Amino acid sequence: MQTSQGRGVWGSRMGFVLAAAGSAIGLGNIWRFPYATGQNGGAAFVLLYILFVILIGAPVMIAELAIGRNTQLNPVGAFRKLAPGSLWTVVGMLGVATGVGILSYYSVIAGWTVGYFVKTISGEFSTIIAKDISQQIFENFVGNPYSAVGYLFVFIIFTAYVVVGGVSRGIERWTKILMPILFILLILLTIRSVTLNNAAEGLVFYLKPDFTKITAGTVGNALGQALFSLSLGMGAMITYGSYISKRDNLTISAGYVCLFDTLIAIIAGLMIFPALSFVGLKPEESGPGLVFVLLPSIFAEMPGGFIFGAGFFLLLSVAALTSTISLMEVTVSYMVDEWKWKRVNAVIVMSILAFLLGIPSALSTGASGWFTDLPLLHMGFLDLANALLGNYSLTIGAFLISIFVAYKWGLKSVFKEIELNQNIFYFNKFWAFMVRFICPVAIFIIFVYIVITGEYF
Ligand code: TRP
Repeated sequence: MQTSQGRGVWGSRMGFVLAAAGSAIGLGNIWRFPYATGQNGGAAFVLLYILFVILIGAPVMIAELAIGRNTQLNPVGAFRKLAPGSLWTVVGMLGVATGVGILSYYSVIAGWTVGYFVKTISGEFSTIIAKDISQQIFENFVGNPYSAVGYLFVFIIFTAYVVVGGVSRGIERWTKILMPILFILLILLTIRSVTLNNAAEGLVFYLKPDFTKITAGTVGNALGQALFSLSLGMGAMITYGSYISKRDNLTISAGYVCLFDTLIAIIAGLMIFPALSFVGLKPEESGPGLVFVLLPSIFAEMPGGFIFGAGFFLLLSVAALTSTISLMEVTVSYMVDEWKWKRVNAVIVMSILAFLLGIPSALSTGASGWFTDLPLLHMGFLDLANALLGNYSLTIGAFLISIFVAYKWGLKSVFKEIELNQNIFYFNKFWAFMVRFICPVAIFIIFVYIVITGEYF
């Protein structure tokens, strides 16, 4: 379907909800959320995270969707239209630039998931492997420049293939196929996991809160996780919102997206923690290597592990793909709207750019000594990119978006947009209160915290 301006539009409300949930559900839910929970004390962190989704995430999501649908433009065009001749356009530019950057390093990790899928089906993990050997396999894999850059390339090609198809015939059609696959795989794996021996121990850590474990770091991490997981702070939801029909109720759509995203993260935890206690590992010891180092050795020990292992890495790849699609779409929509480029050209240029920018990240996990341990900073390029873009830029973006909506564009305009066609703005008073007072203040505190402590997520 096309609108009068030749931009796309979602074919149905469910089409939008699945595409936006696809954007939100990604490595953040299945790879990051479980190890963040492990490192931050378990159930208490999960509760904080849910609280932040409701109090901060959902209101900011409604704000982004309203901006998008009202203007029917990319983030730069949207801010320019709502606040002409002002510096607010810079917020849109920051979002578009952040999108390219996140796409570049996110695709590196997404590429690993494809590589691990291939490794699993080629039988590399079918005999029992000790944890240190698994660690070695992982380090060799991510430290090999050919596979790291090769899989980055493969992943960007997949993403480009979907995005070039356009909004309803590319993104919507593919997410409608991919999301049910993801859900079925996740449920099967979770059933397998909770029926393993010793599952209960992992579940207790995950589900029984110990509030003494809450620290400033835990709180900051939970809010950062909520924003990243819901794809907020850089205009991805402005862009997806710009293709929503004026008939749809934005609060209901936003509610579904938040619900699905949170549900999938919570189920991912149910899948991971019993598997950890099955092999006798402490959740606190988990880290970014969790799914790549620990899981293959767990799959090797588990009855039917070959199938479940392959299924798991396929699940991760699918989840990551529906997210990279949204990251690429932000910049593509910018080039299409603002520069009047053909979609296919925008996709080609974007893919090349993301690939080139991704190379330093791909080489920063062992392949190149320089990128792995940057001079002065003593961190890898991928970690640096994630700290600057995934943490700093998204928190600044989410902060400015709530300020913009509450104090510049104005609550009345948002009410008008959402209440079009007699739609009801559910929880409108709660939303207005949150977006005026709580969101900016809470996000600002987190930002100051991560800057002062140098902690990043
Ligand atoms: N939300 C995705 C995840 O959890 C990642 C993602 C996709 C994203 N698009 C985004 C994060 C836009 C921030 C902004 O993995």
